[in-house]
Amino acid sequence: MIHTRVIGTGSYLPGSPVTNDDLVARGIDTSDEWIVERTGIRSRYLAPPDVTSSDLAYEASVRALAAAGCGPQDIDLLIVATSTPDYIFPSTATLLQARLGISNGSPAFDVQAVCAGFAYALATADKFIRSGDHKRVLVVGAEVFSRILDWQDRSTCVLFGDGAGAVVLAASDTPGILATALHADGSHNGILRVPGQVNRGLVTGDPFLRMDGQAVFKFAVRVLADVAREVAERAGVALDDVDWLIPHQANIRIIQATGKRLGLSMDRVIATVGEHGNTSAASIPLALDAAVRDGRIRPGQKVILEGIGGGFAWGAALIQF
Ligand code: UT7
Repeated sequence: MIHTRVIGTGSYLPGSPVTNDDLVARGIDTSDEWIVERTGIRSRYLAPPDVTSSDLAYEASVRALAAAGCGPQDIDLLIVATSTPDYIFPSTATLLQARLGISNGSPAFDVQAVCAGFAYALATADKFIRSGDHKRVLVVGAEVFSRILDWQDRSTCVLFGDGAGAVVLAASDTPGILATALHADGSHNGILRVPGQVNRGLVTGDPFLRMDGQAVFKFAVRVLADVAREVAERAGVALDDVDWLIPHQANIRIIQATGKRLGLSMDRVIATVGEHGNTSAASIPLALDAAVRDGRIRPGQKVILEGIGGGFAWGAALIQF
């Protein structure tokens, strides 16, 4: 039987951290106290104007490939999860493929499931590997959400940041990804969206992220707990035997509430939202890479990753490292 193993992780954050006080200094009507109390966010990273998602994806991918001991030509499938692509087309995945120098003709495509994008891309890659068609897959979450924020809207602009995370997956005889689960409910598409369109040379409508924060909060807490239970059940693993939970990094209160519902204490939950803010599709692989590199996640351990975002779309994976 073919299994999918994670053989390397990498991540990249642009520039220096931008603190809550830095945002106040830039004229945003907010305070460090409000942001920390309501979200747990203390800083985020904002890409310079000429840096795109594919640039961030490239840096994260180089690090993941090095950790995996792979060269770019070993990659036979590349999937990028992003809602802030460099262009409408070509896909960010093909731009990244060219930048990495992958010239073996292997497929490359983007997945758009907003903050659930990495969970969607990972589950997709797992199925491609288990089909026997692909052996080494690079999965990347990369975002420049700073480009779609209304910096006059304090209820959203303080929450998000830019960054990228990547994993290299390999076909193996030994179990790695034990279960995945994906879901969507399009009836909630109105509570988190960027409703603008490119139309005949113009952006028509509103090009900025709009969110009903409280509605998103309630929805997220419920489904993040449910989907974590679902992957544990599918894998036949008791939640007590899960070493780490890596939830989507949007708000520390959502993360704490999810942990509580699952009966997992915070010392088994990886949280990087305080330092990174919400980096959408990049949030899970950024948190994963941080925990792998600082030695918290060790070989043999079981980790649940889970994302949720606009659509609404959500999903999870249970992985043995
Ligand atoms: O990736 C998935 C997407 N996002 C999420 O998961 C986010 C989910 N939602 C949330 O995290 C929270 O709902 C927020 C952090 C967005 C908001 O927290 P809240 O506790 O739900 O606050 P609220 O929206 O009810 O606002 C409370 C007050 C309001 O003032 P009034 O009307 O009570 O006078 C806001 O105007 O806080 C005010 N406010 C702010 N004050 C200072 C909103 N944003 C700010 C701000 N600084 N940045």
